Amino acid sequence: IHEPDFQDSLSSLSVETESLQRQIDELATLSDTPAPSVTRVLYTEKDVLARRYIKNLMSLSGLSVKEDAVGNIFGRWDGYESELAPVSSGSHIDAIPYSGKYDGVVGVLGAIEAINVLKRSGFKPKRSLEVIMFTSEEPTRFGISCLGSRLLAGSEELAQLLKKTVDGQNISFSNAARLAGYEDNEALSSVFLKKGSYSAFIELHIEQGPILEEEATSIGVVTAIAAPASIKVDFEGNGGHAGAALMPTRNDAGLAAAELALAVEKHVLDSGSIDTVGTVGILELHPGAINSIPSKSHLEIDTRDIDEKRRNEVIEKIKESALSISKKRGVKLSEFKIVNQDPPALSDDEIIKATESSCKELNLSYKKMISRAYHDSLFMARISPMGMIFIPCYKGYSHKPEEFSAIEDIGNGVRVLALTLAKLSMS
Ligand code: GLV
Ligand code: MN
Ligand code: MN
Ligand code: MN
Repeated sequence: IHEPDFQDSLSSLSVETESLQRQIDELATLSDTPAPSVTRVLYTEKDVLARRYIKNLMSLSGLSVKEDAVGNIFGRWDGYESELAPVSSGSHIDAIPYSGKYDGVVGVLGAIEAINVLKRSGFKPKRSLEVIMFTSEEPTRFGISCLGSRLLAGSEELAQLLKKTVDGQNISFSNAARLAGYEDNEALSSVFLKKGSYSAFIELHIEQGPILEEEATSIGVVTAIAAPASIKVDFEGNGGHAGAALMPTRNDAGLAAAELALAVEKHVLDSGSIDTVGTVGILELHPGAINSIPSKSHLEIDTRDIDEKRRNEVIEKIKESALSISKKRGVKLSEFKIVNQDPPALSDDEIIKATESSCKELNLSYKKMISRAYHDSLFMARISPMGMIFIPCYKGYSHKPEEFSAIEDIGNGVRVLALTLAKLSMS
């Protein structure tokens, strides 16, 4: 078989930045909060419209589109040796409340544009190339991060858990999925993919940190993804009247939560490493009235580290604090649930090398770095060699409306992705 020399067509790897920017802006209008913020939550009307938008773009790029039982979307360009395991790339388009328009979106629209770039250059892939849009990378609705990619990676535990998972409005996962058009979500094992289903997976993403911008470097080549964990905690006290109940008689569930939040910060700082982080992003008090002592409190704690053992030690200490606070304050610790406690993932050496040589050939500066945020790549790494490409973003802002990446930087990321996909497809 004659293998076309894709290096010849290198010079014509040009990204249509105007239409890419237009797509990013159009997708951002599918939001439940006003611009510049974006809110797009799993299986809501806006999410369904955004999915339609992506499927349409995939079709326009000549990809054959498939969807699985939870709405992971796959667009495939057949290679001339289509029996080989394909090379895939993708990310997510769901957006946490009041976030920005680039997180995830750049890796989905960018992957579709990378395919367009390769098609325009005359490149013919040996291995098929596939774009994946993952369902619910963000944990917003059901408290489970990377829902689609966890299932793709074969999480039987998650498949079981989803049968009894409800959202904040008590809508079950199954019903929510059904309302969004995914009828067959009872058979979630149909989503699982075998190890080896892809020869490589590579995700383009904004850095979500300040390093590339500060150092004026075009591309981050990710070597590892930090280990994330999340915990749900509930305290229960007796509540009562904020005026009449005297201080010595109280067992205030709100104060227990406040004390635990500070303990999280303390344990994280005590690790002594700048790589250990912890956040209490949700803290709810019941009944939530100024003149009522909180009778219930609910916290959700996110903690991460590149060192899994150190992260696990922090979780242990948080648990000890929750128990001692409950004892000291006479409140009940009615729940301490570790929702996920994932190991870190390493990028594949061959994918790192392919990405580095793409940067060199395109004359783009790059640096190797770790990802402190998690991504669907963390789970794709369980079934496929994995790599990630980062691009700079303004001041490292993310998960807020000020999130921004310049279209030139996005274009650079797409070119590196296109060339890396081309290389991986021929190997
Ligand atoms: C992804 O959104 C993360 O929280 O790292
Ligand atoms: Mn995110
Ligand atoms: Mn993301
Ligand atoms: Mn709870």
